[in-house]
Amino acid sequence: MRIVLLGAPGSGKGTQSQRLVERHGIPQVSTGDLLRAARTKGTPLGVKVREAMDQGRLVADDIVLGMIRERLAEPDTGPGFILDGFPRNLAQARALDALLREIGQPLDAVVQMEVDYGELLRRISGRRTCKDCDRVVNLLTSPPGEAEREVCPKTGKPHRLFQRPDDNEATVAERLKVYEQQTRPLVDYYRQQGLLRTINAEGPVAEVEQRLELALAK
Ligand code: AP5
Repeated sequence: MRIVLLGAPGSGKGTQSQRLVERHGIPQVSTGDLLRAARTKGTPLGVKVREAMDQGRLVADDIVLGMIRERLAEPDTGPGFILDGFPRNLAQARALDALLREIGQPLDAVVQMEVDYGELLRRISGRRTCKDCDRVVNLLTSPPGEAEREVCPKTGKPHRLFQRPDDNEATVAERLKVYEQQTRPLVDYYRQQGLLRTINAEGPVAEVEQRLELALAK
Protein backbone atom coordinates (compact mmCIF):
# COMPACT_ATOMS: atom_id res chain seq x y z
CA MET A 1 0.00 0.00 0.00
CA ARG A 2 1.42 3.37 -1.07
CA ILE A 3 -0.53 6.31 0.26
CA VAL A 4 -0.39 10.03 0.95
CA LEU A 5 -2.11 11.60 3.97
CA LEU A 6 -3.08 15.13 3.08
CA GLY A 7 -4.32 17.58 5.69
CA ALA A 8 -3.75 20.86 7.48
CA PRO A 9 -1.38 21.18 10.44
CA GLY A 10 -3.00 19.41 13.39
CA SER A 11 -5.41 17.35 11.27
CA GLY A 12 -3.96 14.12 12.72
CA LYS A 13 -1.70 12.92 9.89
CA GLY A 14 1.06 11.86 12.30
CA THR A 15 -1.34 10.23 14.77
CA GLN A 16 -3.11 8.19 12.08
CA SER A 17 0.18 7.33 10.29
CA GLN A 18 1.45 5.66 13.46
CA ARG A 19 -1.68 3.54 13.67
CA LEU A 20 -1.35 2.53 10.01
CA VAL A 21 2.29 1.56 10.65
CA GLU A 22 1.21 -0.76 13.48
CA ARG A 23 -1.61 -2.36 11.48
CA HIS A 24 -0.05 -2.63 8.04
CA GLY A 25 3.65 -2.93 8.86
CA ILE A 26 4.73 -0.30 6.36
CA PRO A 27 6.84 2.74 7.29
CA GLN A 28 5.68 6.29 7.89
CA VAL A 29 7.71 8.76 5.85
CA SER A 30 7.22 12.17 7.46
CA THR A 31 9.07 15.10 5.91
CA GLY A 32 8.38 17.04 9.13
CA ASP A 33 10.29 14.38 11.14
CA LEU A 34 13.10 14.18 8.56
CA LEU A 35 13.45 17.97 8.62
CA ARG A 36 13.33 18.14 12.44
CA ALA A 37 16.24 15.65 12.49
CA ALA A 38 18.14 17.79 9.95
CA ARG A 39 17.58 21.04 11.84
CA THR A 40 19.26 19.74 14.99
CA LYS A 41 22.54 19.42 13.09
CA GLY A 42 24.49 22.66 12.94
CA THR A 43 25.21 22.24 9.20
CA PRO A 44 24.40 25.03 6.68
CA LEU A 45 21.49 22.88 5.50
CA GLY A 46 20.25 22.50 9.10
CA VAL A 47 20.34 26.28 9.54
CA LYS A 48 18.26 26.83 6.34
CA VAL A 49 15.74 24.23 7.49
CA ARG A 50 15.44 25.78 10.95
CA GLU A 51 14.82 29.28 9.53
CA ALA A 52 11.98 28.11 7.27
CA MET A 53 10.33 25.90 9.91
CA ASP A 54 10.46 28.56 12.62
CA GLN A 55 8.70 31.00 10.30
CA GLY A 56 6.08 28.46 9.23
CA ARG A 57 7.25 28.57 5.60
CA LEU A 58 7.86 25.52 3.44
CA VAL A 59 11.47 24.32 3.30
CA ALA A 60 12.94 24.60 -0.23
CA ASP A 61 11.71 21.89 -2.62
CA ASP A 62 15.21 20.70 -3.58
CA ILE A 63 16.07 19.93 0.07
CA VAL A 64 12.80 18.08 0.70
CA LEU A 65 12.91 16.17 -2.59
CA GLY A 66 16.48 15.04 -1.92
CA MET A 67 15.38 13.64 1.45
CA ILE A 68 12.37 11.85 -0.05
CA ARG A 69 14.40 10.35 -2.87
CA GLU A 70 16.92 8.95 -0.34
CA ARG A 71 14.23 7.68 2.03
CA LEU A 72 12.20 5.91 -0.68
CA ALA A 73 15.37 4.15 -1.83
CA GLU A 74 15.60 2.34 1.52
CA PRO A 75 14.51 -1.31 1.40
CA ASP A 76 11.82 -1.07 4.10
CA THR A 77 9.66 0.98 1.70
CA GLY A 78 9.51 -1.93 -0.79
CA PRO A 79 6.13 -3.26 0.50
CA GLY A 80 4.70 0.27 0.69
CA PHE A 81 4.80 3.55 2.62
CA ILE A 82 2.70 6.26 4.18
CA LEU A 83 3.69 9.76 3.09
CA ASP A 84 2.87 12.18 5.93
CA GLY A 85 3.25 15.89 5.13
CA PHE A 86 4.58 15.32 1.62
CA PRO A 87 3.87 16.48 -1.04
CA ARG A 88 2.92 19.99 0.02
CA ASN A 89 2.77 21.91 -3.25
CA LEU A 90 2.24 21.18 -6.94
CA ALA A 91 5.96 21.08 -7.76
CA GLN A 92 6.50 18.42 -5.08
CA ALA A 93 3.48 16.42 -6.27
CA ARG A 94 4.75 16.40 -9.86
CA ALA A 95 8.27 15.45 -8.72
CA LEU A 96 6.80 12.62 -6.63
CA ASP A 97 4.84 11.31 -9.63
CA ALA A 98 8.03 11.30 -11.71
CA LEU A 99 10.03 9.55 -8.98
CA LEU A 100 7.36 6.87 -8.41
CA ARG A 101 7.10 6.28 -12.17
CA GLU A 102 10.87 5.85 -12.29
CA ILE A 103 10.83 3.20 -9.52
CA GLY A 104 7.61 1.60 -10.78
CA GLN A 105 5.66 2.21 -7.55
CA PRO A 106 2.59 4.37 -8.26
CA LEU A 107 0.38 5.69 -5.46
CA ASP A 108 -2.73 3.69 -4.48
CA ALA A 109 -4.60 6.49 -2.71
CA VAL A 110 -4.45 10.01 -1.31
CA VAL A 111 -6.59 10.64 1.76
CA GLN A 112 -7.60 14.18 2.59
CA MET A 113 -8.25 14.63 6.32
CA GLU A 114 -10.81 17.37 6.95
CA VAL A 115 -10.86 19.19 10.31
CA ASP A 116 -12.54 22.47 11.25
CA TYR A 117 -10.18 25.47 11.72
CA GLY A 118 -11.05 25.99 15.43
CA GLU A 119 -10.41 22.32 16.20
CA LEU A 120 -7.03 22.51 14.41
CA LEU A 121 -5.99 25.39 16.67
CA ARG A 122 -7.16 23.52 19.78
CA ARG A 123 -5.22 20.40 18.84
CA ILE A 124 -2.04 22.29 18.00
CA SER A 125 -2.04 24.41 21.14
CA GLY A 126 -2.49 21.29 23.32
CA ARG A 127 0.11 19.16 21.54
CA ARG A 128 3.18 18.06 23.50
CA THR A 129 5.97 15.61 22.59
CA CYS A 130 8.08 13.44 24.92
CA LYS A 131 11.81 14.40 24.80
CA ASP A 132 12.84 10.79 25.33
CA CYS A 133 10.48 8.61 23.24
CA ASP A 134 8.92 11.18 20.81
CA ARG A 135 5.39 10.17 21.80
CA VAL A 136 2.89 12.88 20.83
CA VAL A 137 0.13 13.60 23.36
CA ASN A 138 -2.45 16.30 23.83
CA LEU A 139 -3.22 18.26 26.99
CA LEU A 140 -6.53 19.63 25.65
CA THR A 141 -8.10 16.85 23.57
CA SER A 142 -7.16 13.87 25.81
CA PRO A 143 -8.94 13.17 29.11
CA PRO A 144 -7.54 15.49 31.85
CA GLY A 145 -4.29 14.23 33.40
CA GLU A 146 -3.95 11.24 31.03
CA ALA A 147 -0.84 12.49 29.20
CA GLU A 148 0.91 13.47 32.44
CA ARG A 149 0.19 10.06 34.05
CA GLU A 150 1.60 7.97 31.17
CA VAL A 151 4.96 6.30 31.71
CA CYS A 152 7.70 6.77 29.10
CA PRO A 153 8.74 3.37 27.69
CA LYS A 154 12.34 4.59 27.34
CA THR A 155 12.92 5.92 30.86
CA GLY A 156 10.18 4.19 32.91
CA LYS A 157 9.39 7.64 34.36
CA PRO A 158 6.68 10.17 33.42
CA HIS A 159 7.14 11.65 29.92
CA ARG A 160 9.26 14.80 29.73
CA LEU A 161 6.87 16.84 27.60
CA PHE A 162 7.81 19.84 25.46
CA GLN A 163 5.95 22.03 22.96
CA ARG A 164 7.21 22.11 19.36
CA PRO A 165 8.87 25.48 18.65
CA ASP A 166 6.65 25.99 15.57
CA ASP A 167 3.46 25.43 17.58
CA ASN A 168 3.29 29.09 18.70
CA GLU A 169 0.43 31.37 17.61
CA ALA A 170 2.25 33.39 14.91
CA THR A 171 3.91 30.39 13.26
CA VAL A 172 0.72 28.34 13.32
CA ALA A 173 -1.18 31.16 11.57
CA GLU A 174 1.47 31.19 8.82
CA ARG A 175 1.46 27.36 8.52
CA LEU A 176 -2.33 27.35 8.08
CA LYS A 177 -2.08 30.10 5.44
CA VAL A 178 0.63 28.16 3.59
CA TYR A 179 -1.59 25.07 3.69
CA GLU A 180 -4.53 26.91 2.10
CA GLN A 181 -2.41 28.58 -0.58
CA GLN A 182 0.07 25.88 -1.53
CA THR A 183 -1.17 22.49 -0.32
CA ARG A 184 -4.94 22.61 -0.75
CA PRO A 185 -4.62 22.80 -4.57
CA LEU A 186 -3.35 19.21 -4.38
CA VAL A 187 -6.91 18.11 -3.58
CA ASP A 188 -7.93 18.88 -7.19
CA TYR A 189 -4.66 17.52 -8.55
CA TYR A 190 -5.27 14.09 -6.99
CA ARG A 191 -9.03 14.19 -7.65
CA GLN A 192 -8.22 14.51 -11.35
CA GLN A 193 -5.98 11.46 -11.07
CA GLY A 194 -8.83 9.48 -9.47
CA LEU A 195 -6.78 8.90 -6.28
CA LEU A 196 -8.54 11.24 -3.83
CA ARG A 197 -10.61 10.07 -0.86
CA THR A 198 -11.84 12.55 1.73
CA ILE A 199 -12.66 11.72 5.35
CA ASN A 200 -14.04 13.65 8.28
CA ALA A 201 -11.04 13.60 10.65
CA GLU A 202 -12.87 14.99 13.68
CA GLY A 203 -14.02 12.91 16.64
CA PRO A 204 -12.20 10.25 18.67
CA VAL A 205 -8.92 8.97 17.21
CA ALA A 206 -10.27 5.40 16.95
CA GLU A 207 -13.30 6.58 14.94
CA VAL A 208 -11.13 8.56 12.54
CA GLU A 209 -8.97 5.45 12.18
CA GLN A 210 -12.05 3.41 11.15
CA ARG A 211 -13.06 6.01 8.57
CA LEU A 212 -9.52 6.02 7.21
CA GLU A 213 -9.46 2.23 6.88
CA LEU A 214 -12.84 2.29 5.10
CA ALA A 215 -11.59 4.96 2.69
CA LEU A 216 -8.47 2.91 1.94
CA ALA A 217 -10.53 -0.25 1.35
CA LYS A 218 -12.59 1.43 -1.45
P1 AP5 B 1 4.99 18.82 9.87
O1 AP5 B 1 5.75 18.26 10.98
O2 AP5 B 1 4.61 17.97 8.72
O3 AP5 B 1 3.73 19.53 10.50
P2 AP5 B 1 2.25 19.79 9.94
O4 AP5 B 1 1.92 19.36 8.57
O5 AP5 B 1 2.07 21.23 10.24
O6 AP5 B 1 1.40 18.81 10.72
P3 AP5 B 1 1.42 18.63 12.24
O7 AP5 B 1 2.58 17.78 12.68
O8 AP5 B 1 1.26 19.98 12.92
O9 AP5 B 1 0.04 17.89 12.46
P4 AP5 B 1 -0.49 16.44 12.16
O10 AP5 B 1 -1.49 16.51 11.06
O11 AP5 B 1 0.61 15.44 12.01
O12 AP5 B 1 -1.28 16.19 13.50
P5 AP5 B 1 -0.92 15.27 14.79
O13 AP5 B 1 -1.19 13.85 14.47
O14 AP5 B 1 0.40 15.64 15.38
O15 AP5 B 1 5.75 20.09 9.23
C1 AP5 B 1 6.39 21.07 10.06
C2 AP5 B 1 7.16 22.04 9.17
O16 AP5 B 1 8.18 21.34 8.42
C3 AP5 B 1 6.33 22.78 8.10
O17 AP5 B 1 5.71 23.93 8.61
C4 AP5 B 1 7.43 23.11 7.07
O18 AP5 B 1 8.22 24.22 7.49
C5 AP5 B 1 8.31 21.88 7.10
N1 AP5 B 1 7.90 20.85 6.12
C6 AP5 B 1 7.36 19.62 6.39
N2 AP5 B 1 7.11 18.94 5.26
C7 AP5 B 1 7.49 19.75 4.23
C8 AP5 B 1 7.46 19.63 2.82
N3 AP5 B 1 6.96 18.53 2.22
N4 AP5 B 1 7.93 20.66 2.08
C9 AP5 B 1 8.43 21.77 2.66
N5 AP5 B 1 8.48 21.97 3.99
C10 AP5 B 1 8.00 20.98 4.78
O19 AP5 B 1 -2.09 15.77 15.76
C11 AP5 B 1 -2.07 17.05 16.32
C12 AP5 B 1 -2.48 16.97 17.81
O20 AP5 B 1 -3.86 16.59 17.86
C13 AP5 B 1 -1.71 15.93 18.63
O21 AP5 B 1 -1.51 16.41 19.93
C14 AP5 B 1 -2.65 14.70 18.65
O22 AP5 B 1 -2.47 13.97 19.84
C15 AP5 B 1 -4.03 15.37 18.58
N6 AP5 B 1 -5.01 14.57 17.82
C16 AP5 B 1 -4.80 13.85 16.69
N7 AP5 B 1 -5.96 13.29 16.27
C17 AP5 B 1 -6.92 13.70 17.15
C18 AP5 B 1 -8.32 13.44 17.25
N8 AP5 B 1 -9.00 12.67 16.37
N9 AP5 B 1 -9.00 14.03 18.27
C19 AP5 B 1 -8.35 14.81 19.17
N10 AP5 B 1 -7.02 15.06 19.15
C20 AP5 B 1 -6.31 14.52 18.12
